Amino acid sequence: MKAKRRVIMSSGRPLGASRTPRPPRRRPALATVVPKPKSEPRSSAATSQAEAADAARDVEIDLSVDLGRGLVLPNPILVASGAFGYGVEYGDVVDVDRLGAICCKGTTLKPRIGNPTPRVTETPGGMLNSIGLQNPGVDAVIEKYAGTWAGWNVPVIVNVAGESVSDYVEVTRRLEGVPGIAGIELNISCPNVGKGGLQFAIDAGAAGEVTAAVRRATDLPLLVKLSPNVADIRPIARAIAEAGADALTAINTLSGIAVAPGRGRPLLGNIYGGLSGPAVKPVALRIVYEAAQAVKIPIIAIGGVTELADVLDFLSVGAVAVQVGTAIFADPTLPVRLVDELSAECRRVGVTTHLDLVGSALPNRAGAPSAKGVEYRP
Ligand SMILES: Cc1cc2nc3c(=O)[nH]c(=O)nc-3n(C[C@H](O)[C@H](O)[C@H](O)COP(=O)(O)O)c2cc1C
Repeated sequence: MKAKRRVIMSSGRPLGASRTPRPPRRRPALATVVPKPKSEPRSSAATSQAEAADAARDVEIDLSVDLGRGLVLPNPILVASGAFGYGVEYGDVVDVDRLGAICCKGTTLKPRIGNPTPRVTETPGGMLNSIGLQNPGVDAVIEKYAGTWAGWNVPVIVNVAGESVSDYVEVTRRLEGVPGIAGIELNISCPNVGKGGLQFAIDAGAAGEVTAAVRRATDLPLLVKLSPNVADIRPIARAIAEAGADALTAINTLSGIAVAPGRGRPLLGNIYGGLSGPAVKPVALRIVYEAAQAVKIPIIAIGGVTELADVLDFLSVGAVAVQVGTAIFADPTLPVRLVDELSAECRRVGVTTHLDLVGSALPNRAGAPSAKGVEYRP
């Protein structure tokens, strides 16, 4: 099958060192080998076909993903921040160690009680939420959960939020060196109080500045989460990559509102909420597609994943992994099932790593972004 392969930069280099493209490190662990079924004696005509099928079943599939700085995910199916709590809540329902990674709920320096209710509402093909980063604060998160995480094989990535560069840096410093914390995902879709409430994520300068400051503060693998609420994602993605991020995650929710019954006011207590679920998948595909043409660091896609076809779509536009968010509320077992289904799909199409499926829908040369209005051309 025709498949283009993105070169993934490993960033296990000293800060400031030049980036040398290197193929992803492979870790065979956790790849499953399906045992051959015991078979009846076969006719010679059927033998070669059956042997080929057996051989295909025996092929070991390597789903690992190297994000740099020593963070190698066992597989590319992660759970998204805000959809899986701190992981411990799902311990009875899901074998968490079969996940690629857990991105925990957004964590801030001080505890936050979150936004006024109502905070969630269903929408066609998705939901709106305005939880408002309710969380107990970084110190309580470390105290309550890090010990449990340290006993798990699954990497736990802490989603960090703040209202100033110094907030992000301080939360990161407190997470640095804590056993059980495998990396940081910066949620930069927050108002920057220092810049009059302008979101870090919608301005290349602010996004680069906060990324660089956190990069200086930690050797932990650093993922930065893109907002879809921008005209052109490419300068923002480039600024974040140049500031030293190891990977991008995309996308956070789309800003929206719902109207209350009776139509006298907006429905959510916070007025604005973030739209997520299948309705946002085309937007997420577009952002990943454009970012993948702008940067060389790995991209993890998020937005409306509900089945294997969604995972394959995101791989084809350049993502090396995906996160599952809203769909977990309907079925917490979905992410682990997707791991098995992706393995089976690799066998079916005859590749030994899902990375061979990455980028198949990308153009050979970067095209004009949608911000130029290309979608409206006749
Ligand atoms: C209830 C809820 C809470 C969320 N909380 C966070 C958060 O704390 N930090 C963050 O970066 N993203 C948060 N998100 C965004 C998701 O991680 C994800 O980016 C988004 O929902 C799109 O993926 P999905 O369509 O699969 O849900 C939240 C989403 C939902 C639905």
